[in-house]
Amino acid sequence: MFGNTLYAEKIQRALEQSNFPSTPANLYDPVRYMLALSGKRIRPLLVLLGADLFNIENIADAIPASLAIEYFHNFSLVHDDIMDNAPLRRGKGAVHKKWNENIAILSGDALLVKAYEQLALVKVEYVPELLRIFNKLAIEVCEGQQYDMDFEAIDSVTQQQYIEMIRLKTSVLLGGALEMGATVANATLVDRAHIYNFGVNLGIAFQLQDDILDVYGDPSTFGKQIAGDIIANKKTILHILLKSKLENDDVQEFEVLLTNRDMASDEKITRMKNLYQSYHVLQEASGLKEKYTHSAYESLQKVNVSEPQKKELYSLADNLMRRTQ
Ligand code: IPE
Ligand code: IPE
Ligand code: MG
Ligand code: MG
Ligand code: MG
Repeated sequence: MFGNTLYAEKIQRALEQSNFPSTPANLYDPVRYMLALSGKRIRPLLVLLGADLFNIENIADAIPASLAIEYFHNFSLVHDDIMDNAPLRRGKGAVHKKWNENIAILSGDALLVKAYEQLALVKVEYVPELLRIFNKLAIEVCEGQQYDMDFEAIDSVTQQQYIEMIRLKTSVLLGGALEMGATVANATLVDRAHIYNFGVNLGIAFQLQDDILDVYGDPSTFGKQIAGDIIANKKTILHILLKSKLENDDVQEFEVLLTNRDMASDEKITRMKNLYQSYHVLQEASGLKEKYTHSAYESLQKVNVSEPQKKELYSLADNLMRRTQ
């Protein structure tokens, strides 16, 4: 878990109190399983920190929105693991592997409905605005996920297209989480825009770090299959930077790695990592991550509350940049 222990505990308690029926077991067991796995709970924390930043009177009023965001996130992960054919999630079997794909589709759907159920529990005057923010980010996540899959099959993805894809699939959820918190704390529209931009820039840095960890993470802490993105020819930041730099015979080597379906995964990973190393791709991706983290700080500076009150958010951003899981 990350950051503010008091809020992290509140989120954990609220998640544990989520009450799902016992039957049908094949619908609700995967839901319970997914929510019980040790996620970092960053997004619900962002809802609470967004509300706290604007001095919400009672933080309990932000809990339903924070649960809605975590349910939605878990729904997206259950479906993402089917789409990415990922065997592991949070160090355990992904739902579609532990059960099967149909069960993963349906229990993911149930989590999405449960997210809306929470939104309906928000103080009534905020419901329309929260629904607007939530619907916008939710459809954008679908758009980003579709681009992510489309990009697997085409080889001319630019860095700009990549950034837009991760803005949609990952960043708007972080931005929207903060904005929802700010909204239930009655922040001004201008401040809501700044805090949203902080979250979006932070989210881009977060996904860049995710792409880096996919290859360079420690298997004992990362909790996902290492180099799954290489195996699936994902257009990650490492892939895109490498492609733009390749010279001479390496162009062909890269092509072979992407197209030779008979090559064993381990060999493909080793040879791709050799290319990454030759072209200093990790260093460049890290530099880009820092650039977006810096942009996030700039957006946070614009929020019209005192700097000391933003401390938690600065330190969360800082921790996320250096995370290993
Ligand atoms: C994983 O998000 C999906 C991405 C957008 C990279 P997290 O890394 O926040 O996953 P959990 O919730 O902590 O498992
Ligand atoms: C995840 O991107 C984005 C969403 C789940 C919407 P990834 O596919 O990179 O996330 P991980 O690495 O599986 O967590
Ligand atoms: Mg994935
Ligand atoms: Mg994915
Ligand atoms: Mg990933």
